[in-house]
Amino acid sequence: MIYHDAIVVGGGLAGLRAAIELNRNNVRVAIISKVHPIRSHSVAAQGGINAPLGNHPRGAYDNWEKHAFDTVKGSDYLADQDAVICMTKEASERIYEMEHWGCPFSRTPEGKIAQRPFGGAGFPRTCYAADKTGHALLHTLYQQTIKLKQAAERKEIVIYEEWLVTDLVVEDGVCAGVIALDIVNGRLEAFQAGAVIFATGGAGRIYEKSTNAIINTGMGMAVPYWGGAPLKDMEFIQFHPTTLLGKNILITEGCRGEGGFLLNNKGERFLEKYSDSKKDMEVAPRDIISRNIIREIMAGGGFDDSYVHLDLRHLGGEKIVQRLPGIREICMNFVGVDPVTAPIPIQPGQHYSMGGIDCNTECETVVKGFYAAGEAACVSVHGANRLGGNSLLDTIVFGAIAGGNAAGYIQGLESKKGESAIRDALKRTEQRIDMLCKSEGNEVPADVKVALNKVMDKKVGIFREASHLKDAFHEVKVLQERYKRIKINYTGKRVNLSLMWALELKGSLDVAEAVIAGAVAREESRGSHFRTDFPQRDDAGWLKHTLAYCTPEGVRLDYKPVNIGPFEPKERKY
Ligand code: FUM
Repeated sequence: MIYHDAIVVGGGLAGLRAAIELNRNNVRVAIISKVHPIRSHSVAAQGGINAPLGNHPRGAYDNWEKHAFDTVKGSDYLADQDAVICMTKEASERIYEMEHWGCPFSRTPEGKIAQRPFGGAGFPRTCYAADKTGHALLHTLYQQTIKLKQAAERKEIVIYEEWLVTDLVVEDGVCAGVIALDIVNGRLEAFQAGAVIFATGGAGRIYEKSTNAIINTGMGMAVPYWGGAPLKDMEFIQFHPTTLLGKNILITEGCRGEGGFLLNNKGERFLEKYSDSKKDMEVAPRDIISRNIIREIMAGGGFDDSYVHLDLRHLGGEKIVQRLPGIREICMNFVGVDPVTAPIPIQPGQHYSMGGIDCNTECETVVKGFYAAGEAACVSVHGANRLGGNSLLDTIVFGAIAGGNAAGYIQGLESKKGESAIRDALKRTEQRIDMLCKSEGNEVPADVKVALNKVMDKKVGIFREASHLKDAFHEVKVLQERYKRIKINYTGKRVNLSLMWALELKGSLDVAEAVIAGAVAREESRGSHFRTDFPQRDDAGWLKHTLAYCTPEGVRLDYKPVNIGPFEPKERKY
């Protein structure tokens, strides 16, 4: 059995930031990541990270209170306001920290960190590094991690790259460690730890049309869910308005922040036809724009009944090349369109999970010694709809908080615990893998995955209704039964990706079940969750968080109150 004082699962922004904080607190930490850290999905973030720095000519009066208000309003009042205030108060400090660590932010002519407008924000407060902000931030944190790893006077940072965590081990409500599979060698290993932090990202790939990396299967939410930590607000799935037609690669909101137009098949800026987007147009919040794109397509205003145009031509080649070089490259490479000379075909696609592992502002969960941060977690700062630019901020603010709190917890521990529970868990997982490898079933895992993606895309999308959601729930139950009969096509030990995907598929199915159960139950429309059969927000009945618990019979739902702070819930007018 391997021991580390703390284990961080996930090597993206939240995970690395947590590990750095643990190290600063002299804790021996291991990072376990399914991929090399710089291949984490954080690297794909494009448009920016919010902080009320006030560097834009129109941003002089910005401050953390205004950022907090915009975030709460954007969340359709489901965000916990103590958490939002914590995040917005810390935002500027965390950005300057990243700057001092060498993050190559884009600059204003005077040399300050540049900021651009983003949806739902009262001021241009999105700091950016062209359209590769995630890349810039992730490499900065990785460099810091390597620096600390090499500093002899610091405690250790060990990185386990290409290891899949299969189990969270909990004994008597206390986290004891994890079980993980070394993908390269096929070795299953037991890890004991004083504290564990999950920062494994989102679950976008339960959908097919998603901006998420293929690695975002939802396994990082499923593992704690199986271990007894509930998931919160899983029904709230963000659909990004602008993903590249057919491929669903993210086409950053930065395009609209820089002045891009959304056009229908008559060349009209159609957002002005809809009452909730006519004022803010292309920088209205994402849930609103995504719905209005679909409405426009359904009303006959789309191309081939499936997409609209994002037009950047009027911005001019120089601005596009300087501020949106990655977008230009993506469009040219994937659909043969140069945005300097032609509009980009776009459609909404799954982008973000507002829900996740239930935790509080301290990143603590119901399991002692187990913490969560980043997209895998639901603190909740995004409520029913996240504002663009707030997810990167969430990762570095709550990554640091999780690391700091885990360090404090470990320092108070008297002895190592849970050895026999870890050994039992190791045995159970060995048996699970053995059964998968020996299965004589007739189901192909990829077929089950494709069927899951189809049902989620079709029936759990932007517009939802009871009959479709109930069908989807039933179909996922059937897929869970089919999963019991899957057969993998390779049973060797080394780099067995068939085994890895098969293990993760169970996670995707169970997370999808939690999403749909929450969506069926929530008979109102709030933020990203739009029920055509219940089109109004219902604060009297539904201003509450959904909790999903894993039971042998499947998901069980419960609810808990929202932390309302200074901002009384009001009708969300833009
Ligand atoms: O559009 C984007 O660049 C995405 C930003 C975000 O999800 O925060």
